[in-house]
Amino acid sequence: MLKKIAVANQKGGVGKTTTSVNLACYLAMEGRRVLLVDLDPQGNSTSGLGLDRHSLQKTVRNVLSESARIADVLCLTPIRGLDLVASNNDTTEAEVFLLRQPEGKSRLKEALDEYSVSVQSKSSPNSSEANVDYVIMDCPPSLGLLTVNALMAADSLLLPVQCEYYAMEGLTDLLRTFTAIKQEFNPALRLEGIVLTMADARTNLSKEVGEEIRHHYGRHVFETAIPRSVRLSEAPSHGQPIAVYAPGSSAAQAYRSLAMEVIAHEKESVG
Ligand SMILES: Nc1ncnc2c1ncn2[C@@H]1O[C@H](COP(=O)(O)OP(=O)(O)O)[C@@H](O)[C@H]1O
Ligand SMILES: [Mg+2]
Repeated sequence: MLKKIAVANQKGGVGKTTTSVNLACYLAMEGRRVLLVDLDPQGNSTSGLGLDRHSLQKTVRNVLSESARIADVLCLTPIRGLDLVASNNDTTEAEVFLLRQPEGKSRLKEALDEYSVSVQSKSSPNSSEANVDYVIMDCPPSLGLLTVNALMAADSLLLPVQCEYYAMEGLTDLLRTFTAIKQEFNPALRLEGIVLTMADARTNLSKEVGEEIRHHYGRHVFETAIPRSVRLSEAPSHGQPIAVYAPGSSAAQAYRSLAMEVIAHEKESVG
């Protein structure tokens, strides 16, 4: 089966892209086939994997506004098992295009449904295990049509939340938005989990915010918190995921353990 996870939060700078790239990377390193879809016109997932945003032949724009097939716009990445649908500024035009289309909210869903069928037909028919492959969608910092496309297409939402003073308040609003979107567009949408990002074990504030969120949202919060790490902030400028840039770092361990938690959810989804 193909599990589609949207990584979304309408706030910018909370760790959506860092989480998308590194989760996708560790899922691939655990043997899953992973497709990362960059939906942000800033193209940070694209450049974070070492691709040059300015010389892309094909991007998510071709899927959204020209009905291109996912299989025809894939870029290979340096990580085995991880493919990318890239993004750059052109994606903004696609969003404007979608606004004028009656089916503008579900264009990505259509494309991923078609991709899902093609991936499954390639799976080994003799495999006794139910293989789970992943689509990770990195959303822009807004609730516009690009994010709505991701949430329409997704099976679940992964919500990165920065450990800071207003986090709780923001989270309450976000979960209200999640419920509204679920009711309006995608009743089957589940919450994959809330992941605490930029956690700083040395500050009381960060610890308190983390504890408060865990207290309120319990099992919806991933056990793994992503530590604030200079290595993580440096890695994108080298076009490398943390697994390549600093594989022994605590941030690398954290993203690997987040991926293992997502993999542990497979049992529930496969059922
Ligand atoms: N755990 C972390 N520790 C330190 N810096 C981080 C961490 N996570 C993200 N960053 C940095 O913070 C900035 C925003 O992160 P990013 O993942 O791009 O957020 P978003 O996609 O939500 O806008 C980036 O410069 C990124 O490198
Ligand atoms: Mg981003």
